[in-house]
Amino acid sequence: MTGPESEGITVRRAVCPGSFDPITNGHLDIIGRASKLYDVVHVAVMINQSKKGLFTVDERIELIREVTADFGNVEVESFHGLLVDFCKQREIPAIVKGLRAVSDFDYELQMAQMNNGLSGVETLFVPTNPTYSFLSSSLVKEVATWGGDVSHLLPPAVHEALVKRLGEL
Ligand code: PNS
Repeated sequence: MTGPESEGITVRRAVCPGSFDPITNGHLDIIGRASKLYDVVHVAVMINQSKKGLFTVDERIELIREVTADFGNVEVESFHGLLVDFCKQREIPAIVKGLRAVSDFDYELQMAQMNNGLSGVETLFVPTNPTYSFLSSSLVKEVATWGGDVSHLLPPAVHEALVKRLGEL
């Protein structure tokens, strides 16, 4: 082992998990805020084989890497399996999630309690910036599919990739 952990220095790690199909300004806001609180933020693109994405997992990873590069402490990878196993394998004690509205709370609470019961990992909820309280990747895709302007809801590189992808369909 090399780096700070080999010298007995604790590296504070957290994970921001999701589908990120594609990453939005709402996700980016949460990842950026987590990156100020933790030494390393892992972004986990969780693979759900029953959901066909607009972007491949590799494309999502590439876009996330591009738009989080300036934070300087974000690592992006995909994972197939339980989020708690991703955390265990990387010694990550905390999951950071954005809460947009009360409607998010029920399901997020269930997942947080399940994950804590399975492995002891904690979930920390960050209230989303109100500017993005209505924002989701699926809504952005739907609006963009019908020609609506979503350029203010996505990082420019992601908006460009979305317009290109929809044009190919
Ligand atoms: O962006 P999404 O699709 O709302 O993210 C949901 C996600 C991927 C975070 C959640 O479905 C998840 O953690 N999936 C990994 C599989 C898992 O651990 N399931 C048990 C959750 S208690």
